[in-house]
Amino acid sequence: MKEWTREERYRELKSPEEIRELYERIKTSVYRQTYHVQPVTGLSSDPNGFALHQGKWHLCYQWCPWGAVHGLKYWYHVTSTDLMHWRNEGIGLQPDCEYDNRGTHSGSAISVDGSLYFYYTGNHRDDNWVRTPYTCAAVLDGEGKLRKLPKPLFGPRDDYEEHQRDPKIVWNPEKQKYFIFIGAQTMDKRGTVLIYQSEKLLEGWSFAGELSVPGYEKFGGMWECPYIVNISGTDVLIFSPQYTKLPGRAESTNHNVYFLGKMDYDTLTFTPQGGYKYLDFGFDFYAAQGAANVGDPDKAILISWIGLPDNHYPTEEEDWEGSMTLPRELRIVDGKLVQTPVAAVEELREKEIPADGTLPAACEMEVCPKAGDFDLNLFTKADGSGGFRLHYDGAKKVCTVDRTGMDKRFNQQVGEVLEMPLEQDLRKLRVFIDRSSVEIFANDGEATFTSHSYPTEREFHYTVSAGASVKIWTLKPSVTDDFVV
Ligand code: FRU
Repeated sequence: MKEWTREERYRELKSPEEIRELYERIKTSVYRQTYHVQPVTGLSSDPNGFALHQGKWHLCYQWCPWGAVHGLKYWYHVTSTDLMHWRNEGIGLQPDCEYDNRGTHSGSAISVDGSLYFYYTGNHRDDNWVRTPYTCAAVLDGEGKLRKLPKPLFGPRDDYEEHQRDPKIVWNPEKQKYFIFIGAQTMDKRGTVLIYQSEKLLEGWSFAGELSVPGYEKFGGMWECPYIVNISGTDVLIFSPQYTKLPGRAESTNHNVYFLGKMDYDTLTFTPQGGYKYLDFGFDFYAAQGAANVGDPDKAILISWIGLPDNHYPTEEEDWEGSMTLPRELRIVDGKLVQTPVAAVEELREKEIPADGTLPAACEMEVCPKAGDFDLNLFTKADGSGGFRLHYDGAKKVCTVDRTGMDKRFNQQVGEVLEMPLEQDLRKLRVFIDRSSVEIFANDGEATFTSHSYPTEREFHYTVSAGASVKIWTLKPSVTDDFVV
């Protein structure tokens, strides 16, 4: 693995020509995604600034142009009219001023009265590498470019640690105010959320207080990327707690969880109904963000990074890594959160092919098992050995996913076997395979499992328990992967 110096990681991109050769090289990789948003070069991580604005979906991702390394972060901007076909728009935000000299870090967007507003963290560091995070804003201009405000909206609080970032903007109609949720760490190193309020989008911001989630005062060391949404009258609080191990998550210390409950903006209390739940049970799912302005009170649209902080992936050798998940629709059904891929993914179906044990590089599988124990082994060798193995224990109602059998193994120290427990018997799996990812939706969205996977040439086979019905569609590409910087 390449060792990067700080100078290399934090180099400013002066001209697209500096990364053209890198782009030409990586675009031929067999692991380039075909229907998932991925970095034009280098590394993509968190989704940012996701909103529907004047009929167009805007999405950015955290981007380090130079290679598969977390260094100087830009926002790279993509747009879509259907959430499936994405167009590269070029750099969204560039770390080019004093307040964000070491990165334009994560944030959100909101469309109001014909304008699209973006909120991000300006990651400032001084010569001694001491960090000061600023909450900054930008507005989409007439040319479709993000224009930064000259000054931050506010700076950090000095009664919390330097970890104060990832502004999520929300409008609260009862209070007739905007609120910004910021992921934070207390002085005694507990994860939390700080809340700011204003009647106006770009001025008048004041600190409202710290969010209280009763029972979760000590839950992880930092809550990254908070997101809150109301779906069918239930508030859903999503965030990525880190610096802690959690049950069923092997050795990982980075997670993405949610609570269902009620947000009270008077007391700044989120009262959860029941405990936290994993948003996804897979190996590689983090920093999920929902879109603003979805315009339907009964659903949210969510997208996430396929990857985890601190993890390493085989395409690092090729100087790139990362991908977004498919956008998902979130609904509340019978009091539970249900996640399904957005309906537009069905338009990508090219043709249904015979279920003969071979696996296309980009496809959707729909598998309906018979009652009882069941196995679905993806990316096996021709003789059925190895691969990415899912075993369902019918008595326990638990799927166990084991990727130790793949030719390319990675993040072994974090764990290569994870469980996805179900509440109902397993009756259906929808599996979306792209060149370097697998996303599994169980029982029409009761639980999901997202993972990177890097099959070698001899691994494009699968086996499935007898009696299961299997349908497979090849999927058409929907990302343009062109060089727009
Ligand atoms: C989450 C995160 C955010 C931060 C961004 C920087 O992965 O650490 O908290 O804003 O990544 O790239």
